[in-house]
Amino acid sequence: MTFLFNSDARRAAVFAGAFARDLPDVAFANDAATVDPDAVRYLITWTVPDNLARYRNLEILFSIGAGVDQFRFDAVPATVKIVRMVEEGIVRMMQEYVTLAVLALHRNLPAYLAQQRAGEWLDIPQIQAGSRRIGVLGLGQLGQAVLDRLKPFGFPLAGWSRSPRQIDGVTCRHGEAGLEAMLAASDILICLLPLTEDTRGFLNAELFAKLPRGAALVHTGRGPQLDHQALVAALDSGHLSAAMVDVTDPEPLPASHPFWPHPKIILSPHVASVTQPATAAHAVIDNIRRHRAGLEPIGLVDRSRGY
Ligand code: NDP
Ligand code: OXD
Repeated sequence: MTFLFNSDARRAAVFAGAFARDLPDVAFANDAATVDPDAVRYLITWTVPDNLARYRNLEILFSIGAGVDQFRFDAVPATVKIVRMVEEGIVRMMQEYVTLAVLALHRNLPAYLAQQRAGEWLDIPQIQAGSRRIGVLGLGQLGQAVLDRLKPFGFPLAGWSRSPRQIDGVTCRHGEAGLEAMLAASDILICLLPLTEDTRGFLNAELFAKLPRGAALVHTGRGPQLDHQALVAALDSGHLSAAMVDVTDPEPLPASHPFWPHPKIILSPHVASVTQPATAAHAVIDNIRRHRAGLEPIGLVDRSRGY
């Protein structure tokens, strides 16, 4: 029985050590060319390999990342479970990034950076945290974790999901009607939605128009959720005040893209959160144990929902 690792050598070494120590009856392999395809029961990868059909006894296809939008579900036999990455390293990094972004936007950092470049020493009236309303799109493992981390600052917190949720200290909304209400009361909007057919192009002109004037955006979901032109137009008109953008489409952006020089955009190269090999190996091993015990793996993807 083999676990096949299809990603970078640095993380492979950490996974190999964890498997040898914690799950020695499952052989670890990271060279698809030399592995016996019939022995492969578990495969971890970022994209679905073209030759997936050769692994006839595959039971679980793990994503090395939290998202699974890069997987072609129709290329994966229905008998194979698809499991996304749920691990504490990703969660912690996303909490750090979103906290950084929210505080930067709350404390007018993009405007102060622009002033510094222009040699200007001007104070901007500071809204207090209790009056800066935060709205999070997506109340999954990451949306909930960032809300939890933001609690001590005293921002009024809200979140939106597909199905109803209840979270202490957070105004939870769901569905179409819930979205309008949350947008109207979000001074900083954070996108932590998975990319699906429903969320492609979601952050568009219509949505921005529903935010209060002067609102700001943190985009850490997926690039194709954001209409780039609509964001630039909303920032240039003054309807939105600033944006911190971690994911774009394409990645990287071409050199001539308007996001690069935009004074109201802080751009990062899809680094909000990165799978940490030690904690990820632990999560994957735990999931294999669960699966072998007849339990559902944590992060099992519902193919019909697309996440
Ligand atoms: P989860 O699957 O745990 O949560 C997804 C949330 O989004 C759920 O609350 C779900 O609602 C909600 N949702 C999905 N579709 C809709 C919809 N159509 N309308 C309303 N709500 C919807 O995902 P994670 O929290 O683990 O991750 C979220 C995303 O973050 C990933 O898919 C990935 O794209 C992105 N990500 C980005 C990284 C980066 O570095 N920038 C790193 C890691 C992840 P419900 O609760 O009802 O199911
Ligand atoms: C992920 C990512 O999905 O890195 O983990 O975006």
